[in-house]
Amino acid sequence: MAANRRLLENITQSLGEGLLVLDTDSRLLLMNAEAERLLGWTQAELAQRSVHDTVHHQRPDGSPLPRSQCSLFRAACNGEGCHVEDDVLVRKDGTVFPVTYVASPIVEDGRVVGTVTAFRDITERKRAECELQESRRQLQELSAFLQQVREDERTRIARELHDELGQALTALRIDLIWLDRRLPQREQQVGDKLAAMLSLVEKTVDSIRRISEDLRPGMLDDLGLAAAIEHHVAKFADQTGIACALAMSRDHYELDDRTATTLFRVLQESLTNVARHAQASKVTVQLQDLPNEMLLIVKDDGRGLPPPAERGKKTYGLLGMHERVKLLGGSLDISSEPGKGTRIEASLPVNSLEKQA
Ligand SMILES: Nc1ncnc2c1ncn2[C@@H]1O[C@H](COP(=O)(O)OP(=O)(O)OP(=O)(O)O)[C@@H](O)[C@H]1O
Ligand SMILES: [Mg+2]
Repeated sequence: MAANRRLLENITQSLGEGLLVLDTDSRLLLMNAEAERLLGWTQAELAQRSVHDTVHHQRPDGSPLPRSQCSLFRAACNGEGCHVEDDVLVRKDGTVFPVTYVASPIVEDGRVVGTVTAFRDITERKRAECELQESRRQLQELSAFLQQVREDERTRIARELHDELGQALTALRIDLIWLDRRLPQREQQVGDKLAAMLSLVEKTVDSIRRISEDLRPGMLDDLGLAAAIEHHVAKFADQTGIACALAMSRDHYELDDRTATTLFRVLQESLTNVARHAQASKVTVQLQDLPNEMLLIVKDDGRGLPPPAERGKKTYGLLGMHERVKLLGGSLDISSEPGKGTRIEASLPVNSLEKQA
């Protein structure tokens, strides 16, 4: 019997967790060395006081915790154990530390006679959680900043390409036509050279128009989202031969630049993915303004997304869509079934006055 008791004491004392054994009145019957270390009280000192009023009278937000709502006390009263992930205990010096604990009733002859609580100091875990949250927040901020910088940069390069290079080449083209008209008939070789130059300049003007349009569709800034989507969808159908059905609830949406750009970029990436991966024969694009949100749905009838493990590791299209939408407080839902196509639904919150035509 004595040997059993010693063994039990040894186990209790060498536990890595603080252990408190209380009677139904919240009086201390036993505490181990780890509990003494964590709380700063000795067993002899704490045994003279109400444990609840001394070490467990505060909630994590600092407000007082009445004994009637104390989970340790409740475990003793109703005989139900509890596992609490997020609580605090107060040290002898008045400082507070976060804990997680398991409290179980002690039952003798069918009667609850007290509780045993095993608790652990989770200061380190909390600090790591805070650091993780802070670094997530910073990453999101950085991502938002980079997206904006990238969009601004694309807009600037698209404008400069179009305005500077495009204008210069157009002037060159006019001069080449002027030269061609004034060339004597017999200068056949020079005439051929001029025709080739003219054709090259025209092709370059077209390329510049296409590159600047890909960088940032001028329509988005000049005519708005609805026109840019209509144009992009028609171009997609034309270039890929995939039938495209477009349904928009309005001819024009009054949206802020970031919302319009995000919706357009989600559409652009979704259609690019359809062309690259889906092997679809039909795509449906829907844009709808609901009371407080804009809803964009792109649905194809292709082969569906492969399981995540089989998708390329260094792919950023779907990830980028998620990021963009999340940055504006929206949500992106991607659903897909093998052989039954893919559906992408982006929902962005908007001020209801904004989107009216
Ligand atoms: N509509 C779709 N139908 C079938 N598979 C798709 C579709 N969209 C995406 N996928 C699959 O999901 C993967 C991830 O798409 P994601 O857009 O992130 O990357 P990506 O298009 O391969 O490359 P990128 O980073 O240039 O966009 C693709 O590699 C493809 O396997
Ligand atoms: Mg992609």
